Amino acid sequence: AIRGKAAFGNTIDVHTHLYLPGYMDLLRRRAEVPRIIPAPPGSASDAPERLLILPGEDADESTSSGRPIGREYWSVEKKLSFMDVHGIQTSVLSPANPWLDFLPPLDALRVAQDLNDELHAICSSSYPAPPSFPSSAPVPRFLCFGFLPLHPLFQSSQLLPAIVRELERLATPPLSSTMRGVILPAQHLDHPLMDGVYEACQRLGLVLFIHPHYGVGKGSEVNGDYGHVLPLALGFPFETSVAAARLLLSGYLDRYPDLRVLLAHSGGTLPFLAGRLDCCVAHDPAFVWGRGGRKGGKLKHSPSLYLRRNFFFDNVVYHQAGCQCLRALLGEAGKDRVMWGSDHPFFPPVDAAEGEGSRQRPWPSAMKNYEILWGEGTSTDEVKEGAKEEKWREGVLWRNASKLLC
Ligand code: URA
Ligand code: ZN
Repeated sequence: AIRGKAAFGNTIDVHTHLYLPGYMDLLRRRAEVPRIIPAPPGSASDAPERLLILPGEDADESTSSGRPIGREYWSVEKKLSFMDVHGIQTSVLSPANPWLDFLPPLDALRVAQDLNDELHAICSSSYPAPPSFPSSAPVPRFLCFGFLPLHPLFQSSQLLPAIVRELERLATPPLSSTMRGVILPAQHLDHPLMDGVYEACQRLGLVLFIHPHYGVGKGSEVNGDYGHVLPLALGFPFETSVAAARLLLSGYLDRYPDLRVLLAHSGGTLPFLAGRLDCCVAHDPAFVWGRGGRKGGKLKHSPSLYLRRNFFFDNVVYHQAGCQCLRALLGEAGKDRVMWGSDHPFFPPVDAAEGEGSRQRPWPSAMKNYEILWGEGTSTDEVKEGAKEEKWREGVLWRNASKLLC
């Protein structure tokens, strides 16, 4: 059993992004959001490039200069040093939002294949073991979720075979040695054409990692103004909540009961609102009398049962109450379903005065997701010493991810 100190160092990070070099180049060549622009003229020679990422960001005064992006966004070396500083044994890398959603359909499918190959090549290279780990034990430092553009499918159902072929390629050697599933935007999960995607993912045992990018309600108050704060703090989790709720209500999870879905940011607001979903389904004649669900049938279970059966959650919520709410929703099932995440390379320390060097020290954002396991206010030293070790924490830190993904 892993105990005490050893617990820090065995973490599997299920929510961590890498901007592949090929993806960076693609964004640098673009004239519209999403795109990467050089540091403003007159900046220091080592000033970082800037990423304009959110829809409409170039028109929004508060964000139009983008966010600075340093090497932590794209360098594998930086990812490894982040992992070592934060006790992470294995990172399950995923491409970052907005993936390839901005490319024309056929380009998106072609580029996805190239980038999936690039991601696999990075993950399958050999890297030094984590400092805290016995050198005899081989550990994969990287596994991954691949790209799977779906907008081509929604534009032409004839592209389904190409999408299924890519899923099959990811689930077959050599790519299957590192690919554990695909990352998808939190959009259209109840679309009729998703049937073929879910069929393939269930058959191939691929996990779907659902991640937001678009927020909800274009131009709504949860998205606009105050820089990135509202879209990231509220728009993102609301988007995930809506998308997962639509999947729950669609009936797809009765059709594909073995589908495994990982939800970003602890499932957004679902842990708090699942009771309302259950209640509203139980009191809606369409569902009670069997006209609910996309297939027109009655759901076999109430929504929160699917949350406990088909869904997995990271703990990227930066808040102990949020984590407790999630565990309360999941009950017994919670001991297998919550997994540690950092969301690296978001959110690095912003104190410019501390410069690049500060990014090698523990990041308050990532440490917060450790602290909430031990209780808010736990110091970094106490976290490192694995204060108050208990079985369920081991589950969150590595055992649950190891069962799902390793
Ligand atoms: N986390 C992400 O994954 N993407 C963002 O754009 C911001 C935070
Ligand atoms: Zn993320």
